[in-house]
Amino acid sequence: MQFTVAIDGPAAAGKGTISRAVAERFGFAHLDTGLLYRAVGMKGGDPVAAARALSEADLARPDLRSLEAGEAASTVAVLPEVRAALLEFQRAFARREGGAVLDGRDIGTVICPGAEVKLFVTASPEIRAERRWREAGAGEYADVLAQVRARDARDMGRADAPLRPAEDAIPLDTSALSIEDAIAAAARLVAARLPTR
Ligand code: DC
Repeated sequence: MQFTVAIDGPAAAGKGTISRAVAERFGFAHLDTGLLYRAVGMKGGDPVAAARALSEADLARPDLRSLEAGEAASTVAVLPEVRAALLEFQRAFARREGGAVLDGRDIGTVICPGAEVKLFVTASPEIRAERRWREAGAGEYADVLAQVRARDARDMGRADAPLRPAEDAIPLDTSALSIEDAIAAAARLVAARLPTR
């Protein structure tokens, strides 16, 4: 069975946690596409060459979840040649046998416009900044909020594959939801679209 779940949304809206949980619940493979851009950003040198030569080792770097990697990712992600170099890998992953969940910014709009399920996971900038700030356990809330807003502006404002919901994406606002409730809501939406055997 081929079955693609596309989960898009801004940074720290809960996409990653929801995607991992949905993949586990239904036995699907999961690809966090942000990691591809993070690995390209952290490799240094020419980002287009880095994207074309991305290896397993690049994706296994321990520092890919850092704030620095997120910023580097957002910067190289504006380059159309970088996005083009990563496209086929993501599409092939999406159509693998047994089902796949991909989370990112442009999965429902560009990578997998035909995905069986498209979710657009959001939360207010204030709530997302608060989550990030609590996770970090350090620094000033105001600085984190400013970073969240700057990253949103860059991801939504770029010309190539900007962050936006696909027309047929289902919005899931997690601002007032616990993580358990957000996962349950996403799982219900996926279950409702699974082919009946
Ligand atoms: O989801 P994340 O925080 O790991 O993503 C890091 C950056 O990578 C994000 O700010 C923009 C870019 N990105 C993208 O442009 N397209 C994707 N599908 C995933 C991430």
